[in-house]
Parts: sequence; C-alpha cells; structure tokens
Amino acid sequence: MQIQSRLSSFLDTRTVDRTGRIDFGEIVYAHLSDRLKGFGQEHLLQFWHELSVNEQESLAAEILSVDFEQIRQLHQEFLSPEAVEAIDISQVEEPLSVKPGESTRFSQQAARAVGEAALQTGLVGVVIVAGGQGSRLGFEHPKGMYPIGPVSNATLFQILIEKIRATSDQNGVRIPLYLMTSPATHEETVEFLASNDRFGLSEEDLHVFCQGTMPAVDMHSGRLVLKEKNGLFFSPNGHGEMLEALDTYGCLADMQQRGVEHLFYCQIDNALVELIRPEFIGYHILSNSELTTQVIRKQSPGEKVGNVVSVDGKVQMIEYSDLPEELATARNEEGSLKVWAGNIAVHAFSVSFLERVASQADALPFHFAQKKVPYFDESGSTVNPTEPNAVKFERFIFDLMPLAQRALVVEAERESVYAPLKNAEGTESAQWVREQISRLNGEWLAQAGVNVEPGTPVEISPLYANSPEELTSRKPGVSNNSYYA
Ligand code: UD1
Repeated sequence: MQIQSRLSSFLDTRTVDRTGRIDFGEIVYAHLSDRLKGFGQEHLLQFWHELSVNEQESLAAEILSVDFEQIRQLHQEFLSPEAVEAIDISQVEEPLSVKPGESTRFSQQAARAVGEAALQTGLVGVVIVAGGQGSRLGFEHPKGMYPIGPVSNATLFQILIEKIRATSDQNGVRIPLYLMTSPATHEETVEFLASNDRFGLSEEDLHVFCQGTMPAVDMHSGRLVLKEKNGLFFSPNGHGEMLEALDTYGCLADMQQRGVEHLFYCQIDNALVELIRPEFIGYHILSNSELTTQVIRKQSPGEKVGNVVSVDGKVQMIEYSDLPEELATARNEEGSLKVWAGNIAVHAFSVSFLERVASQADALPFHFAQKKVPYFDESGSTVNPTEPNAVKFERFIFDLMPLAQRALVVEAERESVYAPLKNAEGTESAQWVREQISRLNGEWLAQAGVNVEPGTPVEISPLYANSPEELTSRKPGVSNNSYYA
C-alpha cells in the first residue's frame, strides 16, 4: 500500500508509456532527477537514456551513495577558505620532543626494556596504510607491489611484512598486521599477497580492510565529475578514514580480543621504516602517551613533509600544503628552523585512545586537494585537463593529534628511518630509494666489520638482521659484488 502510494507520485506521462506499461527506468530517472535538481547536479543523468539497464542500475547506485548536502557544504568551504579557521602564527611553538640517546626523563635503556616487554607480551600490533593511488609515481598498481630491493627486487609489501616477521621471531610472539587498502588498491593487493603466501605472515595475523571513497567535484561549479557516461569519479577519502574502517571491519574488536594495547602505524611507501624499534614503543608507554609520533629534522623550509608543532600546549600537524611561508621560514635565534619537526608518518596509538575517538571519526575535518581529473564532457568525450580542474576531499589521520590527552614527539635520524617512494624521478624515486637502502645496509655492514665498495648494491633481508645490532651479532659475508643476506 505504502509502496503503491509512493510509486503513484512518480506515475505520470514520463513513467507510463502509451500502452499503459510502467517504465521502471523512468521511475528511477524521475526520482533521481528530483533529488539532483535540488543540488544543481542534474548533469549526472545527461546520458541516462543512452545507457543499458545494467548501466542505469550502477549509475543509480553510485548517485544514491552520495551525501549531496555534505558535498555542497564542503565545496562552499573550499570556495571561501576564510571561513576555515586560519593558523594563528603567533601561537605556533616547537613541540617538546625526546631524542633517544640524549638525556630525557627516561633513559634509552629503560625505553628499550619496556618496549621489548610490550612486544614479548603481545601488546603491540601494526597498521599500515596502503590505500593511496600513487599517482605521482606513475605506477599503475598498488605502491606496495613496487619492486624496490636493490639486490633482491623485493617489493615494499615484502620488505615491510618481513620486518614485522623479524620482530615477531625476535620476540617470540605473533604480531598482527592490519593493512588498509582502498577500492582502488584492494583487489590487486589481496590477490598479490595471497599468491605470495602473505610473505610468510599467517592468515590469522593479516587483516586487510578497505577504506571508503569520496566523489571529486569541479573546482568552480561544485558539480560532481562524471568519469564516464554511467560512472562518477570517486577517489580514496584519505587515511583519516582508517579510524572508522578499523571499527567497521572489526579490527578494533580483534585487537581487544588479542590483548593488543598499542598500535604501530606507518605508510607503505617508506622502505627504511623502523618496524618496530622497541625504544619507540617504550617511550610511548613510559610517557603514558595516547599518540606518539616519530619526526626528523627538516632539510629545508619548503620540504614536502607535514610539520609537527605545538599550539596551546597541544601537539598538532600542519600539512606542507597548508604551512604559511612566514612560518616555514621563521628561525630561532641561533638560526635553526622554528618549524623543524618533519612528519614521516610513523606513529604509535594507544588502542584505548582509538576506541574513545572512533565515535568522533566524523569530527575529523576534510582537507581539499586540487587535482587534474579526467572528465566526460557534455558532448560525450573524455577531456584530460592540463591544469587542476577538480577538488578531492580527504581526512587525515594526524588530525587526531589534538584529541590526544597526552602526545609525545620522538626525534629520529632521517638517514636511518626515512626513504619514501613518492616520485617517478629524482629524490624519492625508485632509484633514490634503492641507493638509500644500499647506503644504510652498507653502514650496518661496516659496523659489523665488513666493508663494501661505495656504490655496491647492498640489501640485508630483515629476516637475517632487522637492526645493526642484530647484524653485528651474526657473521655476514660478501659475494658477487653485492650483498644479500
Ligand atoms: C604524507 C603526509 C605528510 C608526510 C609524508 C611522509 C599526508 C596527507 N601527508 O605526504 O605529512 O610528511 O607523507 O612521507 O598523509 N593513503 C591511504 N589512503 C588515502 C590516501 C593516502 O591509505 O586515502 C596512504 C598512501 O597509500 C600512502 C600514505 O597514505 O602510503 C601517504 O599518502 P600520500 O598522498 O602519498 O601523502 P604525501 O603527500 O606523500
């Protein structure tokens, strides 16, 4: 009865043909076009009558998945940035930080002992975010599949997973990995890991969960981008989505069940990430921190890394794209950069903190990224813009920082912890990352008493030694003008 009365509001000359038959495609069209008109988005149906029934269905499903009111508000915010709270430069201070080896409230030995105890008792899990599309790299697969080992050609997935396995073996414990993908990377990632036996990680210890997407809109008009006649352009909605997705996919419940209390977080693109240095977890636990972040000293004011600062006593991140020039170049009396703490996206979260803020996931702000997005124009052809034409909406995980009651910043040496794969050429390209792996592993070998010619490709499997100390305790050797243990 209810359905009939709802249907009857759409049954008019548009939806009933001359023979009196109801045209369901037209009913859906009428419903969608009423909905879209209110938001100035009718163009999404421009090609409706050229589509097959299946194509109509998929387009309708995509349109119905969009919160048009949210998109309208976000586009308005994008157009009037003055409405968004500006950074008050006078309030920005250096974050208080600890540096292992330097005198702090807790010694490095104490931090190591506490970190090792936490690892050995199964209190630590790992989350890696791998949902980005790596568009700057020009690699048409998930970035984790990039072969990067300078000798073995091991992929980023293999290297990072083997670091987790090495830490597991060393501490006689199973460490679960929660791996976040996006619809753009999910299927290929799952297939790749399965066909490689998860690089030795057991099925129970690998949880692959998929983040959501947001539609992109035309920068000027706010109209959603059509990528084809029957499809909108969606892109991953930022790693801030991790919080909600961890909850939705039961990963928080899994952590609770396994007794995981601390979560080590990193990005798939950093081949030198220390996964997991016990000291880092130890400082986090000893400081009773809810969110601990590892930083490096920036090389230049404009370096493309997030900036960890303190505002009103709260640790916060200012992304490189949002950092005002005046602040980026500000210097202390002795000449060092005031905003020096570069984000390498290595964090430790206490699981109880994540559980507390999971219900506030919606409170994380959206950031705007202006991108070149190919679109289907009104004449029915695809246009590849040469200038940014669209805006994407993303939430960032580091916006959780100010929500932490206690946050800690730990400084590390860039050369030992950071070599991200970002670009097709030059710094942070594949060749550069391979050089960084060879350089660091060569230094480990030198410490262990083995000298290799500079420029020799060097790679030490994490399963052989995951730290210079571990390598020194073994007896390495060299062969074939390259080293691989
Ligand atoms: C990122 C940080 C930057 C930091 C730098 C360190 C952001 C916004 N900025 O910059 O502060 O200094 O890394 O290397 O993160 N990802 C998802 N889902 C998404 C988007 C991204 O999982 O929706 C993952 C990507 O797979 C990647 C990581 O997040 O592993 C970083 O994303 P990317 O866009 O490469 O950020 P950067 O600009 O390099």
